[in-house]
Amino acid sequence: MSQGRPLRGFIAGTGGYLPARSVSNDELAAEKGLDTTDSWIVERTGIRRRHFAAPGETASAMGAAACRAALAQAGAGAADVDAVIVATATPDSAFPSTAARIQGALGVTQGFAFDIAAACTGFIYALSIADAMLRTGQARGILVVGTEIYSRILDWSDRGTCVLFGDGAGALFLRVATEAETSRGLLSTHLHADGRHGDILQVDGGAGSTGGTGVVRMAGREVFKHAVTKLAAAVDEALAAHGLDHDAVAWLVPHQANIRIIEAMGRKLHLPMDRVVVTVDRHANTSAASIPLALAEATRDGRIAEGDLVLMEAIGGGLTWGAALARF
Ligand code: COA
Repeated sequence: MSQGRPLRGFIAGTGGYLPARSVSNDELAAEKGLDTTDSWIVERTGIRRRHFAAPGETASAMGAAACRAALAQAGAGAADVDAVIVATATPDSAFPSTAARIQGALGVTQGFAFDIAAACTGFIYALSIADAMLRTGQARGILVVGTEIYSRILDWSDRGTCVLFGDGAGALFLRVATEAETSRGLLSTHLHADGRHGDILQVDGGAGSTGGTGVVRMAGREVFKHAVTKLAAAVDEALAAHGLDHDAVAWLVPHQANIRIIEAMGRKLHLPMDRVVVTVDRHANTSAASIPLALAEATRDGRIAEGDLVLMEAIGGGLTWGAALARF
C-alpha cells in the first residue's frame, strides 16, 4: 500500500440467494384466502411474484449462501473475511446475531460479526459502516449482507401489506481498493432517520416489547409520500457531494418496494427504465436484501460493467432512508 493513498471500500464480489419456492399473486391469493386480484397488485406495485422460504430455512442460512456466491465471484475465501455485517429485520434469534451465525457457517474464525437494524434501509446502513471500517483500517475485507424472511412477520389478513413482501438474501464482499483500483469502489454513503414517523411502518411486537403481535403494520399511503420526497432528496445529496449531475449515473439500483416509487426516481434522474435495475416484479420487497440481490443479478448478467457509476437508494421503517454511490 502506498503511503497517503486514501483507503476505500472496493466491491470485489456480489451474491444472491432466493428460496426455491416462487409464488404468483394468484397463487398467494388462493393460498391465503385473500380478497385481491393479480391486476390490483400489479397496477399498484408492479409485483407479480415473490419467493418464500421453506419451513426450516433461516435468514442466516440464506445469508451464508449469498456470501458464498459473493466470495466465489471475488476469488476470496474465509481467510479474507475480517468482518460480517448483516442487515436484517428477521434474525434467526435475538442472539447470537445472524452475522455471527453466518460467520460460523462460513468457517471464518478471525475478526468480528454483528447485525444492524434499519429495516429496508439496512443494506445502505451496513454498507456505510463497512466502508467507514475499511477507510479507517479496522478491517480489510468485509461481507455486507441483507437477508430477510418477511413471510414470517406478515399478517395474512392484511391484504394491503402482505402482498408486498418476499424472502431472499444478498451480499457484497468489500475489500480495501488496491493502488490500481483507487478510482473505483464506494464513493460515499448518506444516511438519514426520523424517528417521529416510526409508527407508519413498524413491526408491532417482538423481543423485548410489552405487547403487539410481531407483524408488519403499515400506513401505505403515508409511506409512499415520504418515500418519493425523501429518496429524491437523498439522491440529490449523493450526487451533489461529488459535484455530479444526473447524467453521470450509469445505473440506478433502488430498493425494490414498489414500481411506482422506482419509476418516480428514474424520472427524477432522467434515466430511462432500461438503466434502472428492477427485480420487484419477481422478488417483491425483500427489505434489506433487495439492493444486494439486484446488484448480484445485474453484475452477473453483464448489465453493470467496470467503470459504471451506480446510485443506490432505500427507505424503510424508522423512518430510515439513505443513498450510496459506487463506481464498479
Ligand atoms: N387487493 C385489493 N384491494 C386492496 C388491496 C389488495 N391487495 N390492498 C388494499 N386494497 C384496497 C383497500 O382496502 C382500499 O379499499 P377501499 O377504498 O374500499 O377502502 C383501496 O384498495 C385503496 O387502498 P390504499 O391503501 O389507499 O391503496 P393505495 O393506492 O395507497 O395502494 C399500496 C396501497 C400499499 C400499494 C401503496 O400505498 C404503496 O405502495 N405504499 C408504499 C408501500 C411501501 O413501499 N412500503 C415499503 C416501504 S420500504
